[in-house]
Amino acid sequence: MRIVLLGPPGSGKGTIAKIIEELYCVPAITTGDMLRDAAERGTSLGRTAKLYMDRGELVPDELVISLVRERLSMSDSANGFVLDGYPRSVRQAEALDEILLSTGKKLDCVLSVELEDDVIVKRLSARRSCPKCGAVYNLMNKPPSKHGTCDVCGSTLVQRNDDKPEVIRRRLDVYREKTQLLLDWYSAKGEVKKIRGDLPLEQLPSKIRKTLEL
Ligand code: AP5
Repeated sequence: MRIVLLGPPGSGKGTIAKIIEELYCVPAITTGDMLRDAAERGTSLGRTAKLYMDRGELVPDELVISLVRERLSMSDSANGFVLDGYPRSVRQAEALDEILLSTGKKLDCVLSVELEDDVIVKRLSARRSCPKCGAVYNLMNKPPSKHGTCDVCGSTLVQRNDDKPEVIRRRLDVYREKTQLLLDWYSAKGEVKKIRGDLPLEQLPSKIRKTLEL
């Protein structure tokens, strides 16, 4: 199964990617996590990426394309993957097509996650994540058992730099300007399926399976 997840920031792509990873035993490849990890390690790519991410802007295409090209060449994605947060521009989508074509593979589905802006802003303001193991929580509907502490590894939870209200608004604008175009681009190829981003969390696995296998 080779899947691309599209959708505005905070619509639930990361949450859905983790469920697909478990349901279909394919790696969830999240470019945002890869870039945040590079920034945390202070690599040259990470330092450049952080400048863009902290402002809610897209990291330049060529940097992200080479990151994804390298990741998709790893053996664990030979039999499938779910891409979360990539592509985000037509240039990135064309590059993905080229990468897949060169290995004789094609996408099975583009899953578009749909959610209104007002829900997104509330949701992202309440998101907390674990800097160590990557677990994601939400103070409104998925709080950790112990305030401020990761249930999985016990680390102190943090709020992402780009989850401040003014940066969330910029990320939404950038999504409308650059990424939403991809829905038409992929729809023209007949590859898009849609799923709501506000389904109760416990219903997500069965709904995802039904949507993908329709
Ligand atoms: P990235 O990390 O990809 O951020 P994003 O796309 O803005 O998406 P988010 O991670 O904020 O949200 P999500 O849709 O994954 O939602 P989640 O499941 O966490 O990118 C960050 C930055 O990196 C970009 O701005 C850019 O600078 C750079 N970047 C990354 N990829 C790039 C690329 N390809 N090109 C260029 N630049 C790139 O859920 C959000 C919250 O809601 C959580 O708290 C969760 O628990 C909760 N939640 C989820 N689902 C539900 C539900 N059904 N019901 C209730 N709560 C829910």
